[in-house]
Amino acid sequence: MTSFIVAPVVETDFDCLLKYTDEEGGTLAAPFLFSSWPASDPASTAHRNAWSVEQQRWQFHNDPTAKFMKVEDTSTGEIVSLARWHRYSDGYPQEDGYTEVDVFAPPGTTPKFPTGINGPLHAGFLTEACRRRADYVKPGVCWILTTLITREKWRRQGAGGLLLQWGLKKAAEEGAPAYIEALPTAIQTYNRHGFKHFQDTKVDCTPWGLDGEFTFAIMRKDP
Ligand SMILES: CC(C)(COP(=O)(O)OP(=O)(O)OC[C@H]1O[C@@H](n2cnc3c(N)ncnc32)[C@H](O)[C@@H]1OP(=O)(O)O)[C@@H](O)C(=O)NCCC(=O)NCCS
Repeated sequence: MTSFIVAPVVETDFDCLLKYTDEEGGTLAAPFLFSSWPASDPASTAHRNAWSVEQQRWQFHNDPTAKFMKVEDTSTGEIVSLARWHRYSDGYPQEDGYTEVDVFAPPGTTPKFPTGINGPLHAGFLTEACRRRADYVKPGVCWILTTLITREKWRRQGAGGLLLQWGLKKAAEEGAPAYIEALPTAIQTYNRHGFKHFQDTKVDCTPWGLDGEFTFAIMRKDP
């Protein structure tokens, strides 16, 4: 049986993440990229992964609210799962939205998207998702899980759950709620960790070339 440890991400981990490809057990590219950048061959998958890793490296250095945590396979030292929790001290600060949307383009600058990504969809959808947080994130301290991914080869072995539990413990220690914007298919998994599904956010993606609405489930665990 595989054994895992949970630890904070350090700068050199991003160099390791660059090496993880589909052929090597799966990448840790941010989940939304699989919709906004549907890469199908090894070269474009690697390009997507590299872009995502650099974006996350930027967040690691520039966003003090971001808490990157990893799960390592203790027998090989490989990183198998990655989470980005955010701790906000008073609700969700809307002015932080750009750090999630296009970290290379702070307000007033022009985004430079790489070939392959549907940039308007990526930026448009994530902007809207962050904007909607004003409807449901309560004032006061809160924790929001914005990224959770386990490399395919290591799924369903408890790694993702360890990272969920890490953030839930941090939130509980402060008496703060934890939020997640989940894919509807993941509701049951998050229910098992104590999250309650209390509303849906539906974003019309047709202006950005995707057919129809994208729905995700807003879930919260109260302390
Ligand atoms: C969602 C995701 C992060 C879960 O990661 P994971 O490491 O597989 O998570 P876990 O192993 O802790 O839990 C997954 C399931 O495996 C089960 N499981 C855990 N350990 C197990 C074991 N030893 N044997 C059998 N099943 C096990 C869990 O009970 C859970 O089942 P459930 O979904 O029915 O509740 C992963 O599937 C993923 O990366 N998906 C793509 C990206 C994505 O969708 N991210 C989330 C966006 S909301």
